[in-house]
Amino acid sequence: MRNTTLTFGLVLTILIGCAPKTQEQVVEQSGDSQYRPAYHFTPASGWMNDPNGLVYFEGEYHLFYQHYPDSNIWGPMHWGHAVSTDLVHWEHLPIALYPDSLGYIFSGSAVVDWQNTAGFGTEESPAMVAMYTYHDPIGERNNTIDFQTQGIAYSLDKGRTWTKYEGNPVIPNPGIRDFRDPKVSWNSETEEWNLILAVKDHVNLYSSPNLKEWTHQSEFGVDLGAHGGVWECPDLFQLTDQNGVTKWVMLVSINPGGPQGGSATQYFVGDFDGSVFTPLGSAIRWIDYGADNYAGVTFSDVPEEDGRRLFIGWMSNWQYANIVPTYEWRSAMTIPRELKIQNTENGYLLRSVPVGEMESAFTIEGANGELINVSGSVFKLGMTIESSTGAMVLSNDVGDSLIVSYDENYLTINREQAGKVAFSDVFAASHQAPLNGIEVKSLDVYVDNSSVEVFVNNGDLVMTDLFFFEQPVSKVKTSGSTLVTYLPNED
Ligand code: FRU
Repeated sequence: MRNTTLTFGLVLTILIGCAPKTQEQVVEQSGDSQYRPAYHFTPASGWMNDPNGLVYFEGEYHLFYQHYPDSNIWGPMHWGHAVSTDLVHWEHLPIALYPDSLGYIFSGSAVVDWQNTAGFGTEESPAMVAMYTYHDPIGERNNTIDFQTQGIAYSLDKGRTWTKYEGNPVIPNPGIRDFRDPKVSWNSETEEWNLILAVKDHVNLYSSPNLKEWTHQSEFGVDLGAHGGVWECPDLFQLTDQNGVTKWVMLVSINPGGPQGGSATQYFVGDFDGSVFTPLGSAIRWIDYGADNYAGVTFSDVPEEDGRRLFIGWMSNWQYANIVPTYEWRSAMTIPRELKIQNTENGYLLRSVPVGEMESAFTIEGANGELINVSGSVFKLGMTIESSTGAMVLSNDVGDSLIVSYDENYLTINREQAGKVAFSDVFAASHQAPLNGIEVKSLDVYVDNSSVEVFVNNGDLVMTDLFFFEQPVSKVKTSGSTLVTYLPNED
């Protein structure tokens, strides 16, 4: 879909927004087309959940993802695959990993084996190595507890085809039901691979010289962080703060138990010596305070001259992911974000900033007053805040509304009246994020047919929510701010 999604989305929004409605269009609107994002990644068809194997190699960002191609609900998991050179336009590629006799292919990660430690490639022509969870449905059905193990596969052709390692599984199950989502990274200080794995209510840390033989080093988290549900999809990486001090950041998704109910991702900042992670502080912190950013992880092997830590999340929530009102495809990814840490008087905080590449995806439409008419739900708003309380209301002619508001204490997204909400008991809700002393100076609001992502002060706080209007947005009304609107470029 390289270069075509944006154009498709725009043309479609214009069509739906302006043309008289034929029966066919009405049918389309009640189905997929109205809701398919224009500048977010979606699978061409079928089911998608977590991003997997995020890795940069030879000019391409690879996005693998949990995928069931035969249905729009979760099922036997494959790794779907897409590549991008700019994190904005994605090209769909054939499915990378299919289920096999060891099980479905659950979430995991990918790295480039530059030093050929596993021996799958050469140093001149290194292999990409993926590590993922095997989930054996037969074992699960038979009520065993050891049906999740870890396997690896490699590619010698830039991720186009994959060979599974004959020695799989490389980490057998020690007798624990929830034992999954390996995230591998090269530790340049210890010159070894590290692996972080979600294990029920904590994470395990491992090390390896060659990606095949893994040594258990430590466990973290049983008595720290949020524990309202099972821990999933962890990540561990370094970031340098505004004073040049480098720390380690651990991401842990949890379901249920998030701040808005259901799925969400928490983080810890601390130190890591290759074996043991030592957190700084015990506050529970969330990477995103909306309802719809889950299982997000970061890209491996982004070149040093770039140096960014790039993150993509799954823009849904297990509370209703299987029943949101799209049919041909289900679920989108968040826009890619750059993660940064800041040392503050409240401790280390993680900031999420839309990647710079997103700017090139939009054209400034103009500076506008408080009320603007739009013809469709694909745009971005840049709000400069002028008073201590304010709001932005998206609405349409059939009475749907979505309200983003703030005061001195909270940022709120209210989707109670946002069109289709009755498909789930919990979808119609008002979501509040505590500002904890953050003064709101700017809001960047990305709207893309069925999602809204709100960035406070370019990264101090983020909220991501889905919504499903009956008809596209036709009005935006703001108070307490000046406004610049942006439309996506057509290329
Ligand atoms: C998270 C998750 C992972 C698992 C995958 C299965 O959303 O439950 O823990 O590997 O989805 O699709």
